[in-house]
Amino acid sequence: MEKLHSLLILLVLCSVASSGVARNPQQVEKWFSEVAMAEQKVTRLHFYFHDIFDTTSVNVANAQITKTSPTKFGMSNIMDDPLTVGPEFHSKQVGRVQGLFSSSDMDEFSLLCAMTLVFTEGKYNGSTLSILGRNPTLQKHREMPVVGGTGVFRLARGVALLDFYYFDVPAGNATVEYNVIVQHY
Ligand SMILES: *[C@@H]1O[C@H](CO)[C@@H](O)[C@H](O)[C@H]1NC(C)=O
Ligand SMILES: *[C@@H]1O[C@H](CO)[C@@H](O)[C@H](O)[C@H]1NC(C)=O
Repeated sequence: MEKLHSLLILLVLCSVASSGVARNPQQVEKWFSEVAMAEQKVTRLHFYFHDIFDTTSVNVANAQITKTSPTKFGMSNIMDDPLTVGPEFHSKQVGRVQGLFSSSDMDEFSLLCAMTLVFTEGKYNGSTLSILGRNPTLQKHREMPVVGGTGVFRLARGVALLDFYYFDVPAGNATVEYNVIVQHY
């Protein structure tokens, strides 16, 4: 019994250590009860996003109009794209971005993006940030809202700034530089 108890404690400690943040309901409850006293901090993240059409992102739906629409209106894709430290595709991976994007503007090529940044390295390992917003893809600078997060990013709010690093339109290969600024506790 004693042994089982210490094993359980060890398992709990390990799960805290590997994700960097306690996740069982009592610990999360405690976190919320203490958050009013916690100081807010600002975290800046920088990485590159790689979208390789038909490999890391796939087309899942189109409308009748999509084929003839100058903005591919209705095109919907699902992605699971790598996030890396450097601009090269094979640079060290720090996470992935999973979600969907749909062409949702009839006049300008612009996407509705609903996606989760899933971090897999260091103190952010296992934590996520959710982005929901408009991405006018052909503009050089774009800004989307970060609407929330989990793990170390609980109650996060902020913005993601996107800049093209490389865009091969015919191949559908894009590398985008991300600067994310979030407030959280
Ligand atoms: C991230 O967390 C997962 C799950 O807890 C673990 O398997 C993995 O080894 C961790 N990765 C790093 C780089 O710490
Ligand atoms: C697109 O990216 C993939 C993965 O990096 C690469 O193998 C391929 O050569 C790229 N294609 C073009 C046209 O750049």
